[in-house]
Amino acid sequence: MTVPAGLADRFADLSGEPPVGIWSAPGRANLIGEHTDYNNGFVLPFAIDDRTWCAARANDVGLLRVASTAQPSTHSVAVAQLDSVGFEGWSGYALGVAWALHSMGQDLTDAPGIDILIDSTVPLGAGLSSSAALESAVAIALNDLWNLGLDRMTLAKVGQLAENGAIGAPTGIMDQVATLFGQEDHAVLLDCASLRTTAVPLHLEAHGLSLLVMDSKVKHAHADGGYASRREACERGARAMGVPFLRDLTVADLTRAREVLDDETFRRVRHVVTENDRVLATVEALSTVGPDAIGSLLLASHTSMRDDFEISVPEIDTAVEAAMDAGALGARLTGGGFGGSAVALVPTARKDKIADAVRTACAEHAFAEPEILDVSPAQGARCDQ
Ligand code: GLA
Repeated sequence: MTVPAGLADRFADLSGEPPVGIWSAPGRANLIGEHTDYNNGFVLPFAIDDRTWCAARANDVGLLRVASTAQPSTHSVAVAQLDSVGFEGWSGYALGVAWALHSMGQDLTDAPGIDILIDSTVPLGAGLSSSAALESAVAIALNDLWNLGLDRMTLAKVGQLAENGAIGAPTGIMDQVATLFGQEDHAVLLDCASLRTTAVPLHLEAHGLSLLVMDSKVKHAHADGGYASRREACERGARAMGVPFLRDLTVADLTRAREVLDDETFRRVRHVVTENDRVLATVEALSTVGPDAIGSLLLASHTSMRDDFEISVPEIDTAVEAAMDAGALGARLTGGGFGGSAVALVPTARKDKIADAVRTACAEHAFAEPEILDVSPAQGARCDQ
């Protein structure tokens, strides 16, 4: 996806001079590994083609000023006063990145103000990490303009801190890593304990396969209670089992977990423990056989999220079932849950039929018409010009 036409001109209209650069970062979908990141486990997301762009240039008034092509107002904060700000609305994700850099010890005493204009095609509230795309686009822009020299994993931590500390969403690090480390036709395996990333080839086109993202239009927000309550259940489960993180349990430990934990906590734990195994099995199947071999793992992941972790919604279940009935190899909720999107692995030759079947099934249930996107794993954050 290329820089939107007119973005540099709109920036110049707003700030009086053209931008010195335009940076961008993509949204993400998760192939498999849900609610495993904050349990120190494994995730396998990929970056999507939709991106968030950040046109920027330094100013001499000491203010970090952000505006968006979608919203008329400008939000600003003094670079010298980053420790005493409250953030609200979309701009909090951008200003929060500067706050996070400061909180993590970056000396911004001599850093100039920066003007930023944001444009984005990443759908909002669709479970495709529009927030991480915004954080990462701003993070790489500030890293360059302020000459910070930070590596990508540090920038991922900055984005996560912005999300946790400035926005108040207790999320893990998967989304920021996906948006910063994505590669074309690859998923990113992240071990959240070591923070080691491995690019995993998908070879979708060679196998005649495509990925559909089915946005249910049921909006979700990770600052709402559902995400945090699942995280708490995981932490409770780990404490009761005597381990620092659920990552430290294996499927063999589930027998004892069933005795020690109440039924609900046990099911939350079972999801995470089995999901970690499914991520590793998916990577193994991709490297030994290819993408045709991972469908049942995707579907098992969905079943586990629906029944054990209880984060799906009827709209997503309907989309998953309809896609499977119409010939998808596998399909599952993607992202934090409680709405958002499902992802389906489909034969390219059947993708239109499958998309139609999903729309028809949703209409039969009187659900909102899902938006169905044909996504290709894409390159991560970059400087575009
Ligand atoms: C959201 C969070 C991630 C991760 C997923 C669930 O996308 O931002 O950190 O926890 O939910 O896998």
